[in-house]
Amino acid sequence: MVQKKLYIKTYGCQMNVYDSGRMADILKPLGYVLVDTPEGADLVILNTCHIREKAEEKVYSDLGRIRLHKDEKMLLAVAGCVGQAEGAEIMRRAPYVDIVLGPQTYHRLPEMIARAERSRDKRDGPGRGVLDVEFPVESKFDHLPQDHTNVGPSAFIAIQEGCDKFCTFCVVPYTRGAEYSRPAQAIYEEAARLVEQGVKDITLLGQNVNAYHGESPNGQEWGLGRLLEHLASLSGLERLRYMTSHPRDMDEELMVAHRDIPQVMPFLHLPVQSGSDRILEAMNRKHTRKHYLEIIKKLWDYRSDIALSSDFIVGFPGETEKDFEDTLSLVQEVKYAQAYSFKYSPRHGTPGALMDNQVPEEEKAERLARLQELLNAQQQAFNDACVGQTMAVLLDRKGKQDGQLLGKTPYLQSVYVEASPRLFGQCVGVKIEKAFSNSLTGTIVTVEEVLKGHTL
Ligand code: SAH
Ligand code: SF4
Ligand code: F3S
Repeated sequence: MVQKKLYIKTYGCQMNVYDSGRMADILKPLGYVLVDTPEGADLVILNTCHIREKAEEKVYSDLGRIRLHKDEKMLLAVAGCVGQAEGAEIMRRAPYVDIVLGPQTYHRLPEMIARAERSRDKRDGPGRGVLDVEFPVESKFDHLPQDHTNVGPSAFIAIQEGCDKFCTFCVVPYTRGAEYSRPAQAIYEEAARLVEQGVKDITLLGQNVNAYHGESPNGQEWGLGRLLEHLASLSGLERLRYMTSHPRDMDEELMVAHRDIPQVMPFLHLPVQSGSDRILEAMNRKHTRKHYLEIIKKLWDYRSDIALSSDFIVGFPGETEKDFEDTLSLVQEVKYAQAYSFKYSPRHGTPGALMDNQVPEEEKAERLARLQELLNAQQQAFNDACVGQTMAVLLDRKGKQDGQLLGKTPYLQSVYVEASPRLFGQCVGVKIEKAFSNSLTGTIVTVEEVLKGHTL
């Protein structure tokens, strides 16, 4: 088979990272091999994100750049959430794009490529591209290849997709479609194959992952807590995580899973967006500040070492200085290990964009700077508190220098250590020596092989 070069650029969330990996899996049997640059590629896929205006603008500027490298044979595809939201508009603004597809149709990429090749060979002007942004009745998951290629020690599995929550700022319900949960057995089989390939840390993904309500192996319905329990029975799987959760869907079964299932990591991304009840209501988040804090308290009752991470939006329409201070005080109360924060970006087609009390840009910027200062200090404090402790670190990446490996702690902190390449993929005990804002360094003090009676 003729080898072809495939370049994929991924923007946005972890679900897009998963989707990009799956697109590569689908295209592998057609001879496509991943490359690191778009120059000279046979197929370039931009897997795009529509969440904020900046993310979308980036796509159009990247398209302009890639166009300069586009030769006779290169096919250019726009996939992901911008593809879904702006399909026809992309074809109009960038007629040199050959294929536009959405997150729910990428299992049909091989047909789209064949159609685009035929159309390219006959093309006598712009506007002949292939557009496939349907929400098909069949689930793409039933059409994806069984095996993941390019697997390391950590992997993602999409278990739930789409969203029915309709927060007033958010495009996801429009770009990803209605909520869908995969059957538990299909997820179990995908996880089992990954574990066989050496995966030790699995993150279950969903736009609203804890709204998971999939069919169980005996035809009942399972929530996420029950699914985690089932997956924890896979021998060799050492770590389980899930993201992104919605506070409304943190049920008892899931919270208890943090206490009862050792593989479930003590780290939870639980976005709150704002600490003001008035703003939470305007955002249609369907929970209060008090409810959010109660969930966290309960989680800490079950497992006191759970650390939290969150997303925040500042400058949502109508947000006053007092509302913003409520966000700061909530952050003070929770003490986050890590967080993402954004200026509100009005998105076409969402209710927030039509609200008449938009916050001026300078005010958003000023609030974001204040919030980030506090969050960064908390992250540094969390990292500082690790110094002197021995932490379990899964060595899952190669470091920049020879003799160096990179790993992650249960709290997803990156740790740099001196280590023999033979330890790649192992979970080792590391005594933490130094803490930086985004990483830690330390020395390996226990090694799995040693614990099992082997010497290095
Ligand atoms: N499903 C997740 C979030 C998905 S989007 C949840 O319910 O929390 C990821 C993050 O992007 C959101 O948590 C939010 O903080 C941010 N975001 C979404 N829409 C935004 C917008 N219009 N402007 C700024 N930030 C936004
Ligand atoms: Fe967007 Fe809200 Fe759904 Fe999260 S829960 S994806 S923020 S609409
Ligand atoms: Fe972006 Fe779509 Fe993910 S809009 S954040 S890529 S679901």
